[in-house]
Amino acid sequence: MSKDTLALIAEEIRSCTLCALHQTRTQAVPGQGESHAQIMFIGEAPGFHEDQQGIPFVGTSGRYLDELLRMIQLHRDDIFITNVVRCRPPRNRDPFRSEIAACQTYTERQIALINPRMIVTLGRFSMALFFGETAKISAIHGQPKVENGRIYYPLYHPAAVLRNPLLRATMEADFWRMREIIDNVERYLSGDNNDSTSPQHPQQLSLF
Ligand code: URA
Repeated sequence: MSKDTLALIAEEIRSCTLCALHQTRTQAVPGQGESHAQIMFIGEAPGFHEDQQGIPFVGTSGRYLDELLRMIQLHRDDIFITNVVRCRPPRNRDPFRSEIAACQTYTERQIALINPRMIVTLGRFSMALFFGETAKISAIHGQPKVENGRIYYPLYHPAAVLRNPLLRATMEADFWRMREIIDNVERYLSGDNNDSTSPQHPQQLSLF
């Protein structure tokens, strides 16, 4: 079998017919970023602008996400960003379980190829893939989980925060926590989440 690449996966996604969403899309949205990205963000589904441009998070949610990334000195170039479904659901309805399952093969291949040290889930559909169907985002947002040498970090979806301004401060705090994790990634991966200023932690390695 030939070697999997992000370009090959993207090409397959652009011509994918595994679920009915291909019938109503303008174009599929495979994802954006480099194959060596250390952090992968996984959102929900393309909206109107993403469907038009073929790029994830370029609409209102994307602008807010960029603002949050800038706040903690991260940039799109530092991350790979994709969604649990790669074609826009009609009228921006929630993706069906069957559509997420059909697209999961691409999610898994992108993760295997990029092998990120940290996966950030945006919203409940992405969270459910890594934290289980019964996890509640209001209970677990901002709490990292380490599994098989990788950090999983659940966040609210930016659109949910835009709809409910009361969540803004929480979202910002969760982003600052993410910065702290990035700056102390080895400590988090070792399962030790204690104060990084303690003398037991003389040297912390950052992802950047
Ligand atoms: N919301 C998402 O979840 N993904 C996008 O790409 C855009 C908006």
